[in-house]
Amino acid sequence: MSRSPRGRGGGRGGDRGGGRGDGGGRRGGFGVRGRGGRDRGDRGGKRGGSRMPVGRSRPASGGVRGRGGMKGGAKSVVVPHKHDGVFISKSKEDALCTRNMVPGESVYSEKRVSVQSEDGTKVEYRVWNPFRSKLAAAVLGGVDNIWIAPGKRVLYLGAASGTTVSHVSDIVGPEGLVYAVEFSHRSGRDLVNMAKKRTNVIPIIEDARHPAKYRMLVGMVDVIFSDVAQPDQARILALNASYFLKSGGHFVISIKANCIDCTMPAEAVFASEVEKLKAEQLKPSEQVTLEPFERDHACVVGGYRMPKKNKATS
Ligand SMILES: C[S@@+](CC[C@H](N)C(=O)[O-])C[C@H]1O[C@@H](n2cnc3c(N)ncnc32)[C@H](O)[C@@H]1O
Repeated sequence: MSRSPRGRGGGRGGDRGGGRGDGGGRRGGFGVRGRGGRDRGDRGGKRGGSRMPVGRSRPASGGVRGRGGMKGGAKSVVVPHKHDGVFISKSKEDALCTRNMVPGESVYSEKRVSVQSEDGTKVEYRVWNPFRSKLAAAVLGGVDNIWIAPGKRVLYLGAASGTTVSHVSDIVGPEGLVYAVEFSHRSGRDLVNMAKKRTNVIPIIEDARHPAKYRMLVGMVDVIFSDVAQPDQARILALNASYFLKSGGHFVISIKANCIDCTMPAEAVFASEVEKLKAEQLKPSEQVTLEPFERDHACVVGGYRMPKKNKATS
């Protein structure tokens, strides 16, 4: 039987920070090269690499160089990432970033990088921290498609105070929409405040287990992103999909193994969640682990009620 990554380092610990020790590597900010950053030590994840079949997690690529992220400034060059709406700031330290919908404002004290475009106008980007966003960790993990792109409508379950939601808001841009569901009123306060400045974010302070309560607020969406960290999260996703996800739409779910079963190896938990999704017309097509940014987490991506492929007739 293969060992789960959970077996390493003693216990599965809390959400983040603390207790992970520095693997001796460079400590640093967060970006698209190297690893480290924030309070966490280096874990030594491999670079993206080839696609893994669903059920087996591909390790996330590393992220980081230099504590505190990047400096930005006149010398920064920002280039598009393979995912539309996501960018890489190439400076002394490379960093993942999104184009700021609200120039001049940070959401969670993240660094901003301003670059001058060819026509002389300034464009501002916000550095996207993979230690604080599972979606960013999946992007750095080399996930093939996040389906979240400019102009898309996204239902985001488990919005918390809006850290990742704000980047999704940047990605979908003014033509897109983010319905952000969070049931904690405390986190919801920050979410609502963030949404005041981001016209494409609709905060919904409700329990994602009861989509009927917010069905009047939410239209059909292209993508559901789910990060509720609950044992019944597959069911929550499926229920919301049945209300709001268009046929042929996509889902991205972050799975935290020890929220579901702390007695099973993480890979076994991921495989069992994949089976639950399949039973609900959610067709997983890709899976990446979120190491080294999150321990025992995987991100699974797939389609919903996908049209049957036409078999070529000869
Ligand atoms: C792991 S955190 C989400 C972090 C967030 N996605 C981010 O990247 O910034 C999980 C969040 O889901 C929320 N949550 C858990 N169960 C929920 C439910 N049934 N309905 C709505 N929100 C829920 C929690 O309150 C918590 O804020």
